[in-house]
Amino acid sequence: MRYPNLFTPLQVGGLTLKNRIISAPNMMSALNPDGSPTEYMVGYYEEKAKGGAAIVTVGDTPVEERGFTTPRHPILDRTTVQKWSEVARAIRQHGAIASLELNHGGRISNEAVTGFTPLGPMDETKANGTRVKAADEEEIQELVDAFANTAALAKMTGYDMVLLHGAHGWLLDQFLSPKWNRRTDRFGGSLENRARFPLMVIDAVRKAVGPRFPIEYRVGLELIEGGLELEDLIAFCRLIEDKVDLIHISAGLDTDPNFAVKTHPTMFLPHMVNIETAAKVKAAVTKCPVAVVGSITSPEEAEYVLSSGKADAVAMTRSLIADPHLPNKARQGRPEDIRPCLRCLDCLTGLQTKTQMACAVNPRTGHEFRLDATEKPAAVKKTVLVVGGGPGGMQAAITAADRGHRVILAEKSDALGGLLKFTDYDTLKSDLKRLKDFLICQVEKRDIEVRLSTEVTPEYVAEVRPDALLIAAGSTPVVFPLPGIETAQHATTAYTDLSALGQSVAVMGGGLVGCETALFLAETGRDVTIIEMQKEIAPEANWMHKVGMMQRFGDTPNLHVKTGLRCMAVTEEGVECRDGDGNTVLIPAESKVYAFGQRAVPVTELLSLDVPEIRVIGDCHLVGKTNGAIFDGYHAAMDL
Ligand SMILES: Cc1cc2nc3c(=O)[nH]c(=O)nc-3n(C[C@H](O)[C@H](O)[C@H](O)COP(=O)(O)O)c2cc1C
Repeated sequence: MRYPNLFTPLQVGGLTLKNRIISAPNMMSALNPDGSPTEYMVGYYEEKAKGGAAIVTVGDTPVEERGFTTPRHPILDRTTVQKWSEVARAIRQHGAIASLELNHGGRISNEAVTGFTPLGPMDETKANGTRVKAADEEEIQELVDAFANTAALAKMTGYDMVLLHGAHGWLLDQFLSPKWNRRTDRFGGSLENRARFPLMVIDAVRKAVGPRFPIEYRVGLELIEGGLELEDLIAFCRLIEDKVDLIHISAGLDTDPNFAVKTHPTMFLPHMVNIETAAKVKAAVTKCPVAVVGSITSPEEAEYVLSSGKADAVAMTRSLIADPHLPNKARQGRPEDIRPCLRCLDCLTGLQTKTQMACAVNPRTGHEFRLDATEKPAAVKKTVLVVGGGPGGMQAAITAADRGHRVILAEKSDALGGLLKFTDYDTLKSDLKRLKDFLICQVEKRDIEVRLSTEVTPEYVAEVRPDALLIAAGSTPVVFPLPGIETAQHATTAYTDLSALGQSVAVMGGGLVGCETALFLAETGRDVTIIEMQKEIAPEANWMHKVGMMQRFGDTPNLHVKTGLRCMAVTEEGVECRDGDGNTVLIPAESKVYAFGQRAVPVTELLSLDVPEIRVIGDCHLVGKTNGAIFDGYHAAMDL
């Protein structure tokens, strides 16, 4: 057994966990108009259970209508229980424990959605002008009853346990935190008073579900000035350790972008971010096990957390969004087959902006039930020629091979990886490098004929005579014809020979590639300036990635950003620019790097060939990020 601690059972209340991996709560918002789960949602959670997690937690279910923060919140009540029971059943039927997270927005509830003035610990008027009413004793009792009633309903509906969300700035945390709770009655002031409401909720839920039904309690440091600190966190855990069955350590706040990126650590933060906090809690509590969440991204990391005694169980969200089968693959000793999470947060920001659960690296995520219908071996076996060994081409080859086709993967250069090759040099991109290595390994594991140093021409296609041509020829850097540009180098090649770069570097172009290159170079100790024509840098980044990146920029004083400057010429002294008023500005730099964007490789010649099926994938279809290439590659192969 490669991960012995990970696959040691754990007793949680009246239940035995088959392993130590918990699928942590995550909403996925695929709801019917009545707030009940759709088949997409059933399929999504079912896949996590199939993948082998011991507990599958269904995210963020408000216990009453006053607790909604978004119209995308689900509704569990007597009119929707039937659909909710299908989710529980789909989880349980694969041997996992079905858990439901109970929550309430409190002061962050959305009046426009609920029609009620939000209830919180304090009377307040928030920055956006909305009013919050301090819950009085009667209202506090109503809130307690709402948690208890919903817990009872969850049990009746077929869930095996509940998770109470006491972290991230939601109602239970609002009462516990000295930041949000400055009441002077028996619910405010001392820790015992601030803990009173959460304890009333726990007691009422316990009464509603009985002694052997597990209750998990999620709690964590808020990391904001004046927020819940370690001492109070530990003291609170000691107050609840004989009332709940599992304490779950998280961190940060959903209520503030700067702290939300700590709850959901971006690629700019370390892995396993909460394990030292968990270890301190675990050292202080003796009556119930402690789980920890936060950027635990591989079975190695999970095993380390357990074997070092820092926690009794590991909870994962994004790693199981990227690959719900991580637990089974770990049990089978196949970590190389685990599709790695990039911590890019396309999942969460996509939910917020497109109301769709999607994953940058896993095209099945959120759409399992629909794709299961087509993901069978193909009826007719075809010869498939894939052009280009970047992420899109590799994904297309993998999916086509899995569906039983004969696949030839032709790559012009002498190695697979495409644009992701630069991750071998960029230490900031270790998560992305894992994806590149995973894709290459998966290609190698399959019966795919890889032809390197092979340019696909019309003659070549005529020779191979494929039934399908999947073109993933990628993109090339845009090079603005500035005087002296030939003395500059493209961002991705700048990594490969750092010794050739001077102590000061100007990066022309403040898109995501330019920004991340500049950050990496600045972290090598160089003085780096980003020059961007627009007012904003990295507009294409999702908001969480951007906040995470800007925090890291803030920690890097030798990284400078100059916006509103148009590059005019590259000279020996630096980059000559023009500002909005027409003035010439010199950005002095020994080395000059450009990242003006990418341009699709033209593929019209291949498109007009006499091949029965042709599909264009990734950057040469539409220049974008890795997620688009993987999505295109997978679906092109699914359509064969
Ligand atoms: C798409 C998505 C949805 C989430 N929804 C919830 C939720 O409904 N309730 C909750 O308590 N946390 C939610 N979270 C936070 C996760 O449970 C977890 O704490 C966080 O993602 C850090 O863990 P990870 O690094 O393993 O992803 C969500 C996270 C993501 C990425």
